[in-house]
Amino acid sequence: ANIRRYKFNVVMKNMTKLCSTKPIVTINGKFPGPTLYAREDDNVIVNLTNNVNYNVTIHWHGVKQLRTGWSDGPAYITQCPVQPGGTFVYNFTLTGQRGTLLWHAHISWLRATVHGAIVILPKRGVPYPFPRPHTERIIVFGEWWNSDVEAVISQSTQSGLPPNISDAHTINGLTGQVPGCKSRGYTLHVETGKKYLLRIINAAVNDELFFKIAGHNLTVVEVDATYIKPFDTETLFLGPGQTTNAILTANHPQGNFLMTISPFMDTVVPVNNVTATAFLRYKDTRTQALKSSKIPPVNATSIALGFSDSLRSLNSPDYPTNVPLKVDHSLFFAIGVGVNPCATCINGTKTIADINNVSFVMPTVAMLQAHYFNKSEGVFTDDFPGKPSTPFNYTGGLSNLRTENGTKVYRLEFNATVQVIIQGTSVIAPESHPTHLHGSNFFVIGKGLGNFDPLKDTKKFNLVDPVERNTVSVPTAGWTAIRFIADNPGVWFFHCHLEVHTSWGLKMAFLVEDGNGSNEKLPPPPSDLPIC
Ligand code: C2O
Repeated sequence: ANIRRYKFNVVMKNMTKLCSTKPIVTINGKFPGPTLYAREDDNVIVNLTNNVNYNVTIHWHGVKQLRTGWSDGPAYITQCPVQPGGTFVYNFTLTGQRGTLLWHAHISWLRATVHGAIVILPKRGVPYPFPRPHTERIIVFGEWWNSDVEAVISQSTQSGLPPNISDAHTINGLTGQVPGCKSRGYTLHVETGKKYLLRIINAAVNDELFFKIAGHNLTVVEVDATYIKPFDTETLFLGPGQTTNAILTANHPQGNFLMTISPFMDTVVPVNNVTATAFLRYKDTRTQALKSSKIPPVNATSIALGFSDSLRSLNSPDYPTNVPLKVDHSLFFAIGVGVNPCATCINGTKTIADINNVSFVMPTVAMLQAHYFNKSEGVFTDDFPGKPSTPFNYTGGLSNLRTENGTKVYRLEFNATVQVIIQGTSVIAPESHPTHLHGSNFFVIGKGLGNFDPLKDTKKFNLVDPVERNTVSVPTAGWTAIRFIADNPGVWFFHCHLEVHTSWGLKMAFLVEDGNGSNEKLPPPPSDLPIC
């Protein structure tokens, strides 16, 4: 294994999109930010210097951070933010991981502009478990606001009103053609007969997205940096934080083809419906005209559900799937969006979001430090409820609006096996939630619509080849069942990866205790860990 060193300089940079220019927070002046390349088992060292007037942290989304929780990055969970003028060295090893992941800022809404790809190649000499592509391309989806993103969320927090929706989507930083503005889209250049491994990342802030290339099917081979049984599809579906590797076969003699992302609108909260466009262009194509511009209309809900139904882990001798068969902690998380009274807010109420009626409040010091130094008193408590205090009809419309604020963790002993039924509720609106766990991957053993039925649904769990992920979509007015092993001591954030829902409190943390063995403990913090 090698050491891969990167310098991340946080700087402001002027960017023009949709005919207007504004300064944004970037890493090294790039949007999307620099790609981090490594191989499985490599040690990655990133020297971060903060040269902007915001507090910053970086999260390596999907990196397991085995016993390196200090480098995980979520602000006030594992670290205090790096303050203006400050530095911090992120140091972690990509143990047993290869594939595509992403890194992003993990404080407030900075990840709108501060994100990039992580490409982890297999160990030298180890092939992919699918036909070797000729070459690889990275495709990053994003979301763009004309106004300052930090102002968007702070206005919303103060007013109690939902934040403004974004003004556009982007593919590799470009919005595509917008009437009245001189803007081009990203162009993917290909040659007839070649195979391209597309490393696709949804780094959008609040939208689940469909991706399509006119006239081409894609073969999906990997999601969230785990291999799956390959399957062909016209449309990919990715929630924020999710990644998908797919093989594109350039099988047309020539031409230009439209490539689009469009949001999944399953919610009463308006989503930005601007479809971002990009182009697939074959070598030696003389014309600018599109060979095929027709993106067939999609039945969004059935495609979103069908896509995740197609995901099965590879489960081969080289990449076995080891789902825990016994469960030590069986949890039920009812998640959703509601309203609470708010005296200072415009309507006297504010939108909140919760898990089991607890809307999570960020502490002002880092929880991992508080835990490590036995100073959690006054910072957090370990009474996070493993099920709702009163069961109710989760998908039956308005009910159960009572929510408390709290900073609570759910405590797990080292190596405990955990099952969580994540039940979407329709307290205000039925919505799908891309739900993300830090510190471990999980197996997605089941999913369904309506209320989870323990008698019927448990029998249908897939314990043979469920997909392994770090972020999973909980369907609209439905549920998803996951299992994981708590083999990584630390404090691990669990939250909806729609940043608007995270801001409203749809988050909690698992505290995983140390084991007894010498390599079952969280080592002491690095000496440069920022203080709050
Ligand atoms: Cu990609 Cu806690 O986030």
